[in-house]
Amino acid sequence: MCRRMCNRRSPVCFHRLTLAAALVSLGCLGSSGSWVHAAQPPADAPPSTPANAPSSALANAPAPPSAVPERRGTELGFAVFQQHCISCHGNKAYERAPSPAALRTMSPERIYTALTTGVMKPVGDTLSETDRRRVAESVAGQLLGSAASGDASTMAGRCPSNPPLSDTGAAWNGWGNGPANLRFQSTASAGLDASSVGRLKLKWAFGFPGGTSAHGQPALAGGRVYVGSDIGYIYSLDAATGCVYWSYRTGAGVRTAMTLGTIRAQGKPRHALFFGDLKAGVYAIDAQDGHEIWKTRADDHYATRVTAAPALDGNRLYVPVSAWEGFQARVLDYPCCTAVGSVSALDTRTGRRLWKTYSIAERPRPTTKNSKSIQL
Ligand code: HEC
Repeated sequence: MCRRMCNRRSPVCFHRLTLAAALVSLGCLGSSGSWVHAAQPPADAPPSTPANAPSSALANAPAPPSAVPERRGTELGFAVFQQHCISCHGNKAYERAPSPAALRTMSPERIYTALTTGVMKPVGDTLSETDRRRVAESVAGQLLGSAASGDASTMAGRCPSNPPLSDTGAAWNGWGNGPANLRFQSTASAGLDASSVGRLKLKWAFGFPGGTSAHGQPALAGGRVYVGSDIGYIYSLDAATGCVYWSYRTGAGVRTAMTLGTIRAQGKPRHALFFGDLKAGVYAIDAQDGHEIWKTRADDHYATRVTAAPALDGNRLYVPVSAWEGFQARVLDYPCCTAVGSVSALDTRTGRRLWKTYSIAERPRPTTKNSKSIQL
């Protein structure tokens, strides 16, 4: 059923920035309820506005502006970066200019401040306000203002307690729900069949505070929804009510689906959540309480990112890496290109890399120079 309803661009039931859960009121679900992959709320479902949404969680999101909102996202400013910054940052002739990799570690606020009132003001003055914001958000891999607003501790819809995870109930793990990536959910596991889909009603909705795009497919296990966001937070929500158990702050936006697994090291096994971020960070966090187990990087090149869900097999986590360098490869000031896609196998217990292989055998090396004498 789910396989038919999902498509590549909109794999789950996101209503733009809102994570919506639809439950069919057939009484056929377990007491924990179930999160299902519905493409859209049914036509007769109540609109998901704060005024009449069934959950208070939407109150977490700021009120929508009345004018058409400006497009935002952590990827919109890469072109600005390659056109207006890379000629110095990453250029040996400007040795005081922090490298692109060093800029990637800064917060969007710091980069924006540098461009508006700091050392980069002369450059910032040549850009529009939109481009200043976009470049700060792209380089940092995070949206301006997202650091504090996304934390669960600031939210009204918090769960009153955090009971131990149960192993039962409907589940959807990783992107493809299983190593074969079939994206299939059985009727028994979903708790509903295809003929019930038309009667699904909105149960709750959760707004990512300050978020602008939702790419990450949630996972479902033990009555909880796990989902990452472009504001760099991971959330654990109650599948039945949408209340928030905890949040975890990463170093960049998260687009990957969530992969759940068990880490068996000394001591008792831990349910862990594995995912990657837009700065090629890879994480294992405790699925019960959101505490970090380990974090590492799958690649050190500043233009690499993890957008696909890691795959799990026993004690091994397979992490694919891609690059955003091709966004503006035509910019003549840009020495295109040096990032290479890869797959790494990590030990799930420690995050230690076991091996890494690149998707093309050839290593980047200088070839020719372009019309502006930029080394390609
Ligand atoms: C003409 C060369 C040049 C260009 C173009 C340039 N920078 Fe810089 N940038 C520098 C140098 C040099 C420094 C170090 C300045 C210092 O430490 O005094 C710097 C420092 C910075 C810093 C660090 C500020 C801090 O708080 O430490 C940031 C952030 C930054 N640049 C961002 C940008 C962005 C974003 C762009 C493009 C929109 C850009 N720069 C374009 C040369 C440049």
